[in-house]
Amino acid sequence: MSSSEPAAPEHNRKLYIETVGCQMNVLDSELVVAALRKQQFELTDDMYEADTVLFNTCSVRDHAEHKIYSQLGRLKFAKRHHPAKVIGVMGCMAQKDQELIFQRAPHVDLVVGTGQLAEIPRLLEVARTTRDRQIAISLDRREGSRSEVAMSFESYDPLRDPEMRPTPFQAYVRIMIGCDKFCTYCVVPMTRGPEQSRLPSHILAEVHTLVGQGVKEVTLLGQTVNSYRVTENGRMYRLSDLLEMINAVPGIERIKFVTNFPKDMTDDLLQAVRDLPKVARYLHVPLQSGCDEVLKRMKRGYTVADYRDMMQRIRATVPKCAVSSDFIVGFCGETEESFQKSMDLIRECRFKNSFIFKYSPRPGTKADDLWTDDIPEDVKRHRNHEMLELTNEIAEEDNAEFIGTDVEVLVEGPSKSSEKGKIETDTPQKVQLMGRSMCDRIVVFDGNPRLAGSTVTVDVHDCTSTTLMGSIVTRQVVHGLSIELPIVS
Ligand code: SAH
Ligand code: SF4
Ligand code: F3S
Repeated sequence: MSSSEPAAPEHNRKLYIETVGCQMNVLDSELVVAALRKQQFELTDDMYEADTVLFNTCSVRDHAEHKIYSQLGRLKFAKRHHPAKVIGVMGCMAQKDQELIFQRAPHVDLVVGTGQLAEIPRLLEVARTTRDRQIAISLDRREGSRSEVAMSFESYDPLRDPEMRPTPFQAYVRIMIGCDKFCTYCVVPMTRGPEQSRLPSHILAEVHTLVGQGVKEVTLLGQTVNSYRVTENGRMYRLSDLLEMINAVPGIERIKFVTNFPKDMTDDLLQAVRDLPKVARYLHVPLQSGCDEVLKRMKRGYTVADYRDMMQRIRATVPKCAVSSDFIVGFCGETEESFQKSMDLIRECRFKNSFIFKYSPRPGTKADDLWTDDIPEDVKRHRNHEMLELTNEIAEEDNAEFIGTDVEVLVEGPSKSSEKGKIETDTPQKVQLMGRSMCDRIVVFDGNPRLAGSTVTVDVHDCTSTTLMGSIVTRQVVHGLSIELPIVS
């Protein structure tokens, strides 16, 4: 750099960040990028040209870890040619594998667990200048008292970066960290630490900041989001209280929350979903299995009868509420009979959609210690396929009920097919847009991309198992008659 140029600290550093896993990770990546932008980092989507590479990792299934180790493998030679490149592993796998990551991938410079993300800017700088490996992780769950371990996992919710969001008007807001349920198959209580709820005043302040940045829809995040419970200034707050407070924030149009734990689906929460106009009529409440024996071995803490009772309360309190689920197929000892019980529950509950996973044994979990992974891979694959087919069949039947009705859609932007140039519309200024209804169904229709961020009414005329298709209408009242007009774009 010549001395006549303005005194920039250094050239902008190029950051490549890759995120796998759940919404928590998407949010964590947004926060880390926001912090790093303050340090003159700019984003690149080429990991080879980046001078800093970060992987935000997930350990929930073996596949997710494998993906990251393969990516790290690809960087081995790049690092040999560009020794100044800093490579970091953050998130759940960092907390779980710790030093092991340096052993398996010796070219990694930095390992930072989920509870230490605030350290990343500083540690990147130390790694860059000293070339020494840096590691920051929280205590293991057995390494101290509950409160000591909890203190070592810091909730990281400082700066926000609008550019990292799914769209400019949708944002995640963390309301809890950690999990204390200890389902026997799951690593999350280890990777995310003890369950801790954030204070309502902090959450509200963040929601106000987001509104200032143009956000209209917030999705509240927690591993068991409906277990939220915290005392501030002598008052106890539950999720229903939080929803009421956020519902009152001007500028917020929609509120969602994931993921719910069946046992904590209390009536006050269902009433809040029913009564608060901005809260989506959508509940993601994973069942995992429809067989009591399996649920017991999973240590989910409820029976099929409890789940049925919950579904009945949802149906009675919040009419037309969409419910979705997660299932694990091929869990240790899952017989064909137990699997068919899950299929029966799917027929009974008619989930809007379900995420279906093949059981993946996780070292360090109780299930892995106690039982062998005895269901062969091809049986798991077959059950996965069978369950997916049933789920889709039901979803398509239920989606067909929407044909001929109007749905309110918050427009997210051009649909994926339209972005890839697969869809052409009659009018050049129109593209295929996508958005979601209040019950979280995906809706596609033609319209001007400028509609992104607004709420429109769509008349549904067709569907698949995942999508409602329709056209935008506006409603005008003329001499007491309600008539529908095509929107002028
Ligand atoms: N906290 C959420 C989900 C966290 S993980 C909840 O309890 O609902 C997301 C999903 O991954 C789980 O719902 C479960 O279906 C699946 N999952 C977790 N551990 C798994 C494992 N070892 N093998 C396969 N799927 C798993
Ligand atoms: Fe894992 Fe169970 Fe906690 Fe969900 S509730 S994160 S499945 S331990
Ligand atoms: Fe994965 Fe961690 Fe989320 S293990 S599912 S990224 S909490």
